[in-house]
Amino acid sequence: MLAQTPPMGWNSWNTFGGNIHEDLIRETADAFISEGVKEAGYEYVVIDDVWEARERVDGRLTWDEAKFPNGIPALAEYVHSKGLKFGIYSCAGSHTCAGMPASYGYEEVDAQTFAAWGVDFLKYDFCFAPAGVDGPKLYQRMGQALRATGREILFSLCEWGMHKPWEWGAKAGGHMWRTTGDINDSWASIVDIGFNRQAGLEAYAGPGHWNDPDMLVVGMYGKGNVAEGGCTDAEYRSHFSLWCLLASPLMLGCDARAMNQATRDIVLNRAVIAVNQDPLGRQGYRVGGTGWAGETVEAWAKPLHDGSIAVGLFNLGMRNQRRATVAWEAVGLHDRRPCKVRDLWKGMDLGVFTGDFSTLIDSHDAALVKLTPIH
Ligand code: GLA
Repeated sequence: MLAQTPPMGWNSWNTFGGNIHEDLIRETADAFISEGVKEAGYEYVVIDDVWEARERVDGRLTWDEAKFPNGIPALAEYVHSKGLKFGIYSCAGSHTCAGMPASYGYEEVDAQTFAAWGVDFLKYDFCFAPAGVDGPKLYQRMGQALRATGREILFSLCEWGMHKPWEWGAKAGGHMWRTTGDINDSWASIVDIGFNRQAGLEAYAGPGHWNDPDMLVVGMYGKGNVAEGGCTDAEYRSHFSLWCLLASPLMLGCDARAMNQATRDIVLNRAVIAVNQDPLGRQGYRVGGTGWAGETVEAWAKPLHDGSIAVGLFNLGMRNQRRATVAWEAVGLHDRRPCKVRDLWKGMDLGVFTGDFSTLIDSHDAALVKLTPIH
């Protein structure tokens, strides 16, 4: 069974856009090993749009030979030789978002092609869908075609939340579905997509089927295809904390070959990743917010399989350090129940607390704590 916990990997789009080449993909797979990315749980190496040749050959998609001189099957084999999985991209319309040939009307032949190439993951976009066609049906069609290949291929739906894919995505064979338009490398985008637009979708996620608030921008620092000025390390820490609480797929979008120490400290933190990968598979939800527009403090909670609760405390305010609090009652604990509190970013036990826990948080930063009830 695929995607029993949120899928983890890397995707070429955020940093490289159409500027991709087989050497980049090989070097990224190498970096998964040398940088400890694989060891931390990341598995899928995914090529996004603009890998395609401009025309089909004998009715089949094929790769751009200048970018992939040794071909996609050899590249998939290389990725597999590292113990990793290989992903690719197509689109439910006649063309991809970048105008390359796509799978509308070719669902079965393309699914067979991908399976023959050794593809393990398909991201399926929604540009150029013919007017009047039923979007969900197009996804169902590709889901069926993928199943018919007999190969296990993780199906990642990317129709930007247009037809509420959380309501039908799993039935269409999807393992994850984008809930919004594209993220970019800015705090404003993290707040809009993450904090403002995921609350309320938690009932739809679980083992095998996940809401996808888009790929990570951690470590981009304003460089690359979706750069918009970049973020601070505190902002990237908040972004990663929230995506982990949301049980979101964790798809790295930075250059995995060139991460600095601050980026490694964020995306490779085992205790934080364990919150995302917790086997209970619950998506976190907002348990409280105080303040006013632009100066808000928020708390998000994610119940874990062992009866503990992960809580993120976020200071969305622009200027000042603020105190953020989580009350036991707000996360379903009796207020007289003592809990051990561990700070997951600092890797430190903070002591035993009763009733509530509060801490000071810098502007745009986050604390991620685990509350473990003492029996
Ligand atoms: C859409 C998707 C992006 C990316 C591009 C590629 O915008 O939402 O994630 O795949 O297309 O063209």
